Amino acid sequence: MRDRDFLRFFLAQAVSSLGDWIGVIALAILAKDRAGYAGVGLVMTARVLPGFLVGPVAGVVVDRWDRKKTMIIADVMRGVIVLSLPFVPGLPYLLFASVLLESLTLVWGPAKDASLPHFVPAGHLQHANSLTLMAVYGPWPVASIVFASLATLAAFLAARIPIFGALEGNEVSLALWVDSLTFAFSAVMISIVAMPASQRTARPLDWTEAKRDLIDGLLFVRDHKQVRPWLVGIAFTFVAAGGVFSLGVVFVEQVLGAGDRGFGFLTGFFGTGMIAGLLAAAALGRWIQRDVLFSSAVVLAALGLLVLGGVGSLDQALPTALIIGFCGGVGYSTGYTLMHQATSDELKGRTFSAVYTVIRLGILVGLGLFPFVAGAIGDHEISLAGGVLDLPGSRTTLWLAGLLALGGGVLSTRAIRDRRAGEAAAPRPKRGYFIVFEGGDGAGKTTQMTAFAGWLRAHGEDVVTTKEPGGTAIGRRIREVLLDPEQLGMDARTEALLYAADRSQHVAEIIEPALAAGKTVVSDRFVDSSLAYQGLARGLGLEAIYGISEWATGGLLPDLVLYMEIDAATGLERAGAEPDRIEREGGGFQERVAHAYLALAHESPNRFVVLDGSRSVAEVHADVVAVYERRRGAEPPTLVVPGELAPEPGPVPR
Ligand code: TMP
Repeated sequence: MRDRDFLRFFLAQAVSSLGDWIGVIALAILAKDRAGYAGVGLVMTARVLPGFLVGPVAGVVVDRWDRKKTMIIADVMRGVIVLSLPFVPGLPYLLFASVLLESLTLVWGPAKDASLPHFVPAGHLQHANSLTLMAVYGPWPVASIVFASLATLAAFLAARIPIFGALEGNEVSLALWVDSLTFAFSAVMISIVAMPASQRTARPLDWTEAKRDLIDGLLFVRDHKQVRPWLVGIAFTFVAAGGVFSLGVVFVEQVLGAGDRGFGFLTGFFGTGMIAGLLAAAALGRWIQRDVLFSSAVVLAALGLLVLGGVGSLDQALPTALIIGFCGGVGYSTGYTLMHQATSDELKGRTFSAVYTVIRLGILVGLGLFPFVAGAIGDHEISLAGGVLDLPGSRTTLWLAGLLALGGGVLSTRAIRDRRAGEAAAPRPKRGYFIVFEGGDGAGKTTQMTAFAGWLRAHGEDVVTTKEPGGTAIGRRIREVLLDPEQLGMDARTEALLYAADRSQHVAEIIEPALAAGKTVVSDRFVDSSLAYQGLARGLGLEAIYGISEWATGGLLPDLVLYMEIDAATGLERAGAEPDRIEREGGGFQERVAHAYLALAHESPNRFVVLDGSRSVAEVHADVVAVYERRRGAEPPTLVVPGELAPEPGPVPR
């Protein structure tokens, strides 16, 4: 929530959802007033219908148009339609408006889902998804309270302000206007969210291509081994959920004997559990593999339904509803995150509209089918030895719904099996090991590297030796420029960028491919040279240098750094003949480099080992081997970039 853009996005959703829920109540009442209970039925159908017709097309549209503009336009249109409802009499306009409203919502939803990853870092996606779902469902209970208080507000306004006189006893109109305001609010929020324009912004909609995209989306869902079981799990669960809502009223009355308010309590507990589940999903996802979590949540929710069907009183039903809600919340949020992770950005819109279609279809089947099934089964009583077992249709059907959800949960476990099979079939190749020799000029790195690479090869390792700068053909050209004694005017930043340029080519061309193939890479210098020479000795700053190096290497770090320590004077003496541009640097430069290395070693003992380079070649070699044998297999290190260079480096690992 500290992210400004996410907060705006969240508020847009929460406020417009509140409006939506208020709108649903108002619309139902408007429908009843205009055409009785048949009107309510027709309006509800009109709301669900676009899910099938518009749902799949919406995704294609969303992947093609600019997502931000799509959302704003949809919000404005929804606001205008809602605003107009009280003014146009008759049922047909109400039906038409319902279809249009829902169609716009179906475009808005996938556009929102597909934009989310643009400003939420991948690691926070589940949190963001949980919050998004909360924003959508959280206002649900609030909406009925708001609606109830609107009646009072309408009376208040009508009594005090003459032009609001018409509002007397007409809270429905007020509710619709409030609803329309929430859409305006959402449009404003979305318009100030910083969101990169989607890639396909400027392309016009071409229907043949759209058709192909739609087929791609459906094929993706059908063929993707993991997405399909999740979708099946979601579908069955929503059929069951639809069933619970349509059976709930009768069940609470017939079986629990608790009336309308009992039903209110039951949905209240269910909703509370669901919100808790949505919130807990991210935390649980850290401990349990997401696909395992998803399937378990669905199976547990299904078992909860079976238990609910069996209880005989409201006080037993309420905690059960709470648990079912919790599992449902965890399952929904986790399933949603799984889908996000499995879908590439380009296909996201399409996949999510497929998900919404399935959810709507599920709810429709559940809502429509189950009361009919309950009626067909009828109420029965079975005489048992211990007494009479009461089997009203609503109880039997609730059990059926539970079984259906259980089936969905069990089917969704296939995704886990497929993932495990995939992991077993293609074991990840063992990644190689990356060792770097560092040291001031003339410390004997090259000699030690050659000896060490020979030792590794003799021990059966596949070794690649390389160097910086100049490990690649491009790098050799860069090296020429860098070390040319003529280039005395080179700016420090130019120098730093050239070393980084050499490094990025080096990583891409040599180091990464070798590591990926499981080889051991031994490099003469790497990022720590830049940190010591450019960051500390030249004074450009460690953070800046690490920043460009990290960008250049994709964050690659050595597993082990061996620093050959030698006093600067001996080093320069050993370096011999023609000093290069860096070696010519006077004014205590080499001393600063030596000091810098020790400071780095002191800060990062988990990856840096300091060796006394003034000893004999054989002695140092024995040390190199000993350190390698001790360190190999240890946890890969992390880089600590020290803020400032300590005047006297503390103890260093040797
Ligand atoms: P070398 O091949 O003899 O080690 O020479 C490379 C020179 O480049 C050496 O003086 C150290 C310097 N250098 C940097 O200043 N920054 C770096 O990032 C690297 C890799 C080397």
